Amino acid sequence: MVEKKLNVIVAGATGAVGAQMLTCLEEQSFPINNFKLLASSRSAGKKIKFRDETFVVEEMTKNSFKGYDIALFSAGGSTSLEFAPASAEAGCVVVDNSSAWRMDTDIPLVVPEVNPDAVAQYKNKGIIANPNCSTIQMVVALNPIYRNFGIKRLVISTYQAVSGSGVKAVNELREQVRAVMEGKSPVAKVYPHPIAFNALPHIDSFLDSGYSKEEMKMVNETRKILNDETIMITATAVRVPVFNSHSESVNIETKEHATCEQIRGVLNTAPGVKVLDDPQNNVYPLALDAHGNDLTFVGRIRQDLSIENGIDIWIVSDNIRKGAATNTVQIGRLLAEKYL
Ligand code: A2P
Repeated sequence: MVEKKLNVIVAGATGAVGAQMLTCLEEQSFPINNFKLLASSRSAGKKIKFRDETFVVEEMTKNSFKGYDIALFSAGGSTSLEFAPASAEAGCVVVDNSSAWRMDTDIPLVVPEVNPDAVAQYKNKGIIANPNCSTIQMVVALNPIYRNFGIKRLVISTYQAVSGSGVKAVNELREQVRAVMEGKSPVAKVYPHPIAFNALPHIDSFLDSGYSKEEMKMVNETRKILNDETIMITATAVRVPVFNSHSESVNIETKEHATCEQIRGVLNTAPGVKVLDDPQNNVYPLALDAHGNDLTFVGRIRQDLSIENGIDIWIVSDNIRKGAATNTVQIGRLLAEKYL
């Protein structure tokens, strides 16, 4: 099949996720005709190499989108609220990595391994939302369990890498580690407390309920992607001094009883999942191993001894790749192949 080549924009091309999107577009041999890189006025004129060509970054304006088919956005929530409708209006479909549009009932929230058909709803507003990083990797692993055994309740604890807070946070961890090793006091700017040698039960801002916004993203987005409002979910989101890749402990109460062997069986054949589960030989998913990979790794699969239908699993994935850039580019590819 000869693929139609599309006119593609990357909006937020100078950011951490934007840069990864460029890598993913290269790796996935995305069918591109015209290509444009957008960022703020601060980066206009900056040169970025892509597929052996040099592109000059342009300032994003509401006139940036005419004649283009797809805009992959990773430029923050407020920027997306301002510019995504102008892009859609110009006929350039937006795949947005921010949280701005995720819970809009007219806008699909897509993880290609889980709900690819939802992409068709792009026609509503010309925008598709990419879910939160912690949610993406979790639903990739949960979907086969949900489809085969049903899910009644989830109890989630996350161990999230600093790369999820951007380049500044990565530098802050590095500098704080160095400071502590040199006997100096670590300086905290990105986070309210030192992240080096620490664990912060605080991601995004807190709501009146006592949950953080990050925790409620996992609750609400999981229900939307699985299209099931009945799943009971509680989450604790924790930032840990890991550079990249999020880890998650997830306790699952299934509707039907499932043995560990059955859970391993459905995970082994699930798209995007790799089971690493031989704890006796120290084999289980690790953040360092997931780094640079597009798969979601699952291990420590065991029966929860405290309830009848309970399973505990440990899920790890590269939050900048599958949790952001890879998933966005995969959605773009689905659009390109089936709808544009
Ligand atoms: P810039 O580099 O010019 O600030 P990160 O999340 O890693 O900080 O990246 C955010 C991305 O979003 C960057 O590419 C940034 O561009 C871009 N961005 C931020 N604000 C705007 C804006 N008002 N218009 C266009 N791009 C923006």
